[in-house]
Formats: sequence, structure tokens, C-alpha cells
Amino acid sequence: MPFTNADCARCRRDFPSLARALDGRPLAFFDGPAGTQVPNTVIEAVSNYYRTANANTHGLFPTTRETDRLLQETRETVAAFLGASDWRSVSFGQNMTTLTYSLSYALAREMKSGDEIVITQLEHEANRGPWLNLQERGIVVREAALRPDGRLDGDDLARQITGRTRLVAFNMASNSLGTVNDAALARRLSREAGAWLLLDAVHYAAHFPLDVTALDTDFLLCSAYKFYGPHVGILYSRPGLLEALNPDRLRTQDQEAPYRIEMGTLNHAALAGVKAAVEYIASWGAGESPRERIVSAMREISGYEHELGAYYYDHVRSIPGVAAHGPDFSGLRAPTVSITVEGLPPAEVARALGEKGLQVWDGHFYGLRPLEVLGLMENGGVVRAGIVMYNTREEVDRLLAGVEAIARR
Ligand SMILES: Cc1ncc(COP(=O)(O)O)c(C=O)c1O
Repeated sequence: MPFTNADCARCRRDFPSLARALDGRPLAFFDGPAGTQVPNTVIEAVSNYYRTANANTHGLFPTTRETDRLLQETRETVAAFLGASDWRSVSFGQNMTTLTYSLSYALAREMKSGDEIVITQLEHEANRGPWLNLQERGIVVREAALRPDGRLDGDDLARQITGRTRLVAFNMASNSLGTVNDAALARRLSREAGAWLLLDAVHYAAHFPLDVTALDTDFLLCSAYKFYGPHVGILYSRPGLLEALNPDRLRTQDQEAPYRIEMGTLNHAALAGVKAAVEYIASWGAGESPRERIVSAMREISGYEHELGAYYYDHVRSIPGVAAHGPDFSGLRAPTVSITVEGLPPAEVARALGEKGLQVWDGHFYGLRPLEVLGLMENGGVVRAGIVMYNTREEVDRLLAGVEAIARR
């Protein structure tokens, strides 16, 4: 069953912050790529944890046992979201960036000077900084090229990955341009080179169903605050792989996967919210198992977002003086559209839209590298609008009218 406009209207009632208004007009939240709003069930799960069971783990009294059970259930729920067969593959952390840094130190211990890591010019800084840091240990970082149309150059990726490559760290979808990348190609090339594959699915996970088993990846990272949950980072590791690595950790902590890479006490209340967020998504799907419901919901919501994203993309680029960047919507693409308005700094456009309650991001939002490569940083970056399940056609029409009014000035 497709996710329809009526479903969108229905889902909006679940997100209390969508009722906020500015000067009598509702706020329009196009800032989803930097973090979505959260539904009531997530808010209730977080507050219910604090109301009933705020405790640390691994004790011998009721509330600590409840916390252990909650964390276990959250891992199982997230495993279903990722398509992982084993909850032991699911580690949690503060966010994707800190988990990637932790993992980078562990992987560096398995590498020697002269070993190579391949990234791409479409990476968010979180999938660059941790690897570039390893250059001080003599590890070489190579970058596969971005083409002017906002797509990766697959031939260049194939050239960069060689027998010296130990890791390919690859973005599944760009938070700057909306490009969806060919993870299967990255897997094939990294496999041929005998290298690990790490997928940054932070932007992708908000818009498409994930299947770590089909992707056959070694690591995958995402962040629950991009898909209607609280600020929690998620790391998938292939079963057995984390045990073979030596991440920084305390001798007092649990030494097995998935705990082995988790630093200090987790945010238990937020984890209650992560479970509720995945269950919220699943509630829009059909099927026997939670996994089937998650995949069906993500597919249908994805179709809705794609159509609305395409509508915005096609109309906004027809406004005189406006350019839309990144691939068109003829193929798989995230519903995240970045524009520039001739003669106007992105910050000015975003401020003017913000004054009308149209909430968009300007600049580079840490997805800096592709914008540098495309020469878009010289004028302050881009203006980015992201579509998620609760955005409506009416909101997009308001945004188009807002952009048109600014471009005409
Ligand atoms: C593609 C991508 N990768 C990584 C990150 C970093 O995620 P986190 O904020 O969880 O560290 C983001 C956040 O915007 C992102 O969009």
C-alpha cells in the first residue's frame, strides 16, 4: 500500500512539534537531513524510561534488569532495521562521528605505514576526518573523484582501489547533493582488493530500507536522529569482526561484541527512543515480521518522498536565477535538494526563508568536500531542503513561492 498524502496528513498528528507556528503560519521543517522531528511514541518512550527505570546496567535489582532488557530489545529492533541476522552486530555510541573515530583507532592497529584507505569526494567530514587523521601514522588516504553532475566516477573508484587498499570508507548517500552511490560496486572492488568495506549510511538510512546482509558490508554506520529518533549513533559490524579488532576500551567493561567498542555508559533513555522510532516506522508497513514491516514502510515512504522531492527539484530549477545541484530524480536519489540563487549568498536566502517559517539549511552542513570540489563554497555553499515523511505538497509550494520571491528581488 503506497504512502499517500492522506497518510502524510495522518502521520503529522503524531509529531507534536509540527504544530508550531510563526506569525500564525505553521513552521515547515525542511531541515530533516540535519535531524528530523520525533513522534509522540518516541517522546513517551524517553520520558517513560526516566519516570520508571533510570538505572545503570548489569546489576541485580529490578530497574537495572529492566535497563538490560531494554538495551537488548533495542539492539534486536535495530538489527531488524539494518537487516542484520544477529543483535551482537549492533553497537551504540553518541553519534556516527565518535563511533567512526573509535573504529578508526581500532582499524589503524591492524595497519602499517604505506597501507591505503580509499574514500570519495562525496563524503561528509565524519567519514573523512577519522581516516585523514591516520596519515600521521603513514597511512595513505586516496579519494575517488566526483563528476560535475554530482555522481561519483566509478572508473576512478576502480583506479584508486588497489592491492594496497585496506579499507574503503564509502558514503551511501550524500547529505549535500542527494546522490545515492553504488555500494555494490564499492563492495565488489573492495572485496577484489581484500579490503574492508565501511558504509556511511547516515543520510541513506533516513530514506531507504537497509540490508547489511545483502550489502555484504563489514561495517555500516547510521544515526537515529535522522530517522525520527533521538541522538544515538549506530555501528553495524560483521559478526566476528569486532572481536578480531582491538578498540580502545576499559578493562572493566564487557569485552565481547557488540559492547567491546562502546565507551562508558550509554544514553539509556535515548536508546528507549531509538527502539520506539524504529517501531514507529514499522507501524506504517505491512507484513508478518518486524523486519517485513520496516522494509515495506521504508519502501512506501521512500516512494512518497521521491515524488515530492522530484516535484520540488523540477519546479525550483525552473525559477529564473535558481540552480539545483546534484543528480535529477530520474533514478534512485535521496529527496534532499540543494540550490543556489544567482547573486545571493545562501545564508541570505536561508534567513529570508526562515523569516517565513520555512526552515532550510545553508552552507555546507559538514558535507563540505563535494561542495568544494564543485566550486560551490566560493559563494558560501548552497541552500538545502530535505523532504521526509511528514512534509507536504503544500509546504513545498510555500517553499517554491518563497524561493521565487527571493530570486525575483
Ligand atoms: C552523510 C552523513 N554522514 C555522517 C554524518 C555524521 O553523523 P553524526 O551527526 O551522527 O555524527 C552526517 C550528519 O549529518 C551525515 O549526513
